[in-house]
Amino acid sequence: MDLELARMPALERYKLLIGLVIPRPIGWVSTFSENGVANCAPFSFFNVISEDPPLSILSFNRRSDGAMKHTLKNIHRTGEYVVNLVDESTANAMHLSSEEMPESESEFARAGLTPVPALKVKHPRIGEAAAAFECRVERIIEFGPERELVIGEMLHLHAREGIVDPETKRVSEKTYHPIGRLYASRYCTTRQRFNLPGKLP
Ligand SMILES: Cc1cc2nc3c(=O)[nH]c(=O)nc-3n(C[C@H](O)[C@H](O)[C@H](O)COP(=O)(O)O)c2cc1C
Repeated sequence: MDLELARMPALERYKLLIGLVIPRPIGWVSTFSENGVANCAPFSFFNVISEDPPLSILSFNRRSDGAMKHTLKNIHRTGEYVVNLVDESTANAMHLSSEEMPESESEFARAGLTPVPALKVKHPRIGEAAAAFECRVERIIEFGPERELVIGEMLHLHAREGIVDPETKRVSEKTYHPIGRLYASRYCTTRQRFNLPGKLP
């Protein structure tokens, strides 16, 4: 099958992109609203793109009423945010926190999560998350009215005890069990790993 993407309706393109480019990592972003309500939501148009400087990307579309997502609004206002990483133990809470809620209500409360003060940014990290990167906006790029790309510099990492070896800085396969986004409400674990010949860095 051959498909010319530019000639397809955006929704069909969306289905193809999120169905084929899988699994995607999930950036679970936590911020405070202007009124101090702790907000969090997952974003799977997310990845790391550089280690020097350490950069990650997030891409936002609009809420169902066409308004800017609260996370993006908070990022625009402050230039900062926290990207938490999702593992098996926090999968349900992450999924719950994706519901569209009024700005005055906290997804932390809805999903039973604990806001913990971050060290370098004014937003909270998610206490239950496997790891959290405190980020500062490097730049924001707009792609039409529906999409904005946030590139963030990752300033500080907090990792749950036992995930990162303090000496080697290697991440433990035994204690870190991240999940990936497939499409719609489908996710995958990362438990079936395999080797190919070659040296590790
Ligand atoms: C696993 C998962 C991944 C998602 N990825 C994105 C994404 O990459 N970009 C986006 O705009 N919305 C994404 N969403 C939807 C947002 O999480 C959802 O719109 C949320 O209500 C936004 O909350 P906010 O308005 O508090 O920022 C995703 C939802 C789920 C469950």
